[in-house]
Amino acid sequence: MSVRSRLTAIGLLALPLLLGATAPLAHPATVAAPALDNGLAKTPQMGFNNWNATHCRAEFNESMVKGIADLFVNKGLKAAGYQYVNLDDCWALPQRDSAGNLVPDPVRFPNGIKAVADYVHSKGLKFGLYSSAGSKTCDTNGFPGGLGHEKADAKLWASWGVDYLKYDNCNNEGVDAKQRYTAMRDALAATGRPILYSLCEWGENKPWTWAKDVGNSWRTTGDISDNWGSMLSIFKQNVGLAPYAGPGHWNDPDMLEVGNGGMTDTEYRSHFSLWSIMAAPLLIGSDIRKATSATMEILTNKEVIAVDQDRLGAQGQEISNASGLHVISKPLSGGDRAVALFNETAAPATISTTAAKVGLPQAGGYTVRDLWTHTTRETAGTIGAVVPPHGTVLLRVGNDRNWPQYPPAVRTGIEFPVAYPGAPVLAEPGKAAKLSTVAVNDGAANATNARVQLTAPQGWTVQPQSATSTPKLAPGKELRTQWALTPPAGTKPGTYSLAVRTSYQPQSSTSDYQLAVAVVAPQPGGTSGLGDDQWISADNGWGPVERNTSNGEQGAGDGHPMKIGSVSYAKGLGVHAPSTVEYYLGGRCTSVRSTVGLDEEANGNGSVSFEVWADGRKVADSGVLRAGSGGKALTADLTGASLLRLVVTDGGDGNTYDHADWAGAELTCS
Ligand code: GLA
Repeated sequence: MSVRSRLTAIGLLALPLLLGATAPLAHPATVAAPALDNGLAKTPQMGFNNWNATHCRAEFNESMVKGIADLFVNKGLKAAGYQYVNLDDCWALPQRDSAGNLVPDPVRFPNGIKAVADYVHSKGLKFGLYSSAGSKTCDTNGFPGGLGHEKADAKLWASWGVDYLKYDNCNNEGVDAKQRYTAMRDALAATGRPILYSLCEWGENKPWTWAKDVGNSWRTTGDISDNWGSMLSIFKQNVGLAPYAGPGHWNDPDMLEVGNGGMTDTEYRSHFSLWSIMAAPLLIGSDIRKATSATMEILTNKEVIAVDQDRLGAQGQEISNASGLHVISKPLSGGDRAVALFNETAAPATISTTAAKVGLPQAGGYTVRDLWTHTTRETAGTIGAVVPPHGTVLLRVGNDRNWPQYPPAVRTGIEFPVAYPGAPVLAEPGKAAKLSTVAVNDGAANATNARVQLTAPQGWTVQPQSATSTPKLAPGKELRTQWALTPPAGTKPGTYSLAVRTSYQPQSSTSDYQLAVAVVAPQPGGTSGLGDDQWISADNGWGPVERNTSNGEQGAGDGHPMKIGSVSYAKGLGVHAPSTVEYYLGGRCTSVRSTVGLDEEANGNGSVSFEVWADGRKVADSGVLRAGSGGKALTADLTGASLLRLVVTDGGDGNTYDHADWAGAELTCS
């Protein structure tokens, strides 16, 4: 899809981001309304939808859909609980036929939709379709929507064997949402066929307050995209809506992006963990015909899926959020609690809570099962982990009287000197970086013969500077070891993975931590363009951060020459809010300067703020800039700072159209 058409599509989706953010926490009276009585989605629906993988592109066609259905069976997805194979927008022709019926696109679906539904059914799976509660669907090609055609469309779908309807919100002609969605509910019911009804209203009219007896799920936010910022912001909008979810009626924070390539596997594990603890529908949104083994492992993790699918049907509640370190707890049938320890920050962090805080009764010990490493330990009551940046440790905590049979939970992590809280772990080639490994016994029993190992990439020097083992690690005690770590001279800048492992008895137990170290190089001396300089990390709201062009929102390199007002710039950074780009300065730079503003590409829309941070101190702030504000000059003193962060926020109104330029941005170093 072109940048222009995507802009239009997002324009329609801006509002829910705003409205969803102010969700009430209290259990409202409306929650007591009867739930939709179609007997479906007693646990959150699971399946596939092509949209995140293909959008409206030609590869969305019969052979793709059949291929996915085959894989559901052959790759264990059906066995893991995935059931629905769903088609999104663009399956129809732009015009109804002379009788007013929807017509399947004969190029994509030469045998019609019923043939595809039959094929999906022949695999023991269920089949879903898409429409919009408006005159047209959302894609800019404008396929016919269901408004005013509810009865006929529902009847046609039922005749094709449709088991699931996703009903979107575009081109709704200003008709009341409840009225539009209720009309389709009644039309579906009138067909006599059980059809799972998924409302895609983006949270605009707070459907959680009125849709319990209308649909089986309702989108709570605007569209997800395949990047960290999008996933995080949707999590934050959805997590507070826990009181409204339950069997047959779920909050839907949108489909999964796992496997689409815009996030790391650690981030995808967070995405999948968070969606599961929020009892969200799990609709795979990547083309699993091309999935990596890591993607398949995430999507088929049965222990994580069991959290999502627990029959009690409670959405996890956030019990704490300390500056981006989140604890979410979900009661499970049988009395266990699922607990997610989620680290939103860019630095490793210890996140901990207690059995009492997550709602378990008083006991001498508890079992703690890690649902990603598949190991069980005992704890005296502390539930904690050192969680990597953007990572989630997902646990199942049980009040199990057999807890003494398990080894004590030992929490392995690291500590290192930071320029500011949240800074990444840094090392310069050829220079020794100091860090400590720490192993803490959270169990009720002793850990014995505890030994810690730090394994670095080939060629790195790793030197312990204090004891690496202890014969006994009593409950609550720690083994702390100092290390000097040196990447060899000439190591290429980038992020490297190191392994920390504590081995202990009983039962030859291990506890692991994966440490990411950013190898950094000094910036070139003198004045250099930030669009050319090496960064440590670059997060962006849509698509990647672009060097020396604007941000085109989708793939790398799809921007244009930067332009703010009538002035063009050959150099700089093209970003999309929310964005953070981080550079290593190593105390050798003095200043940064840039012209900042919204790129003309945003067509007169959007609003953003630019901030410059030096070691966790804000040293410049543009205030909110809108289209028409023109370029604003920002300069900041960086003397002595180790790290520079360029931050663009959404200006307080959601990130639609927020194409922001750090135009002509330059760094001066000695
Ligand atoms: C809207 C929806 C998306 C997708 C597209 C299709 O943006 O929110 O999930 O269905 O329409 O055009």
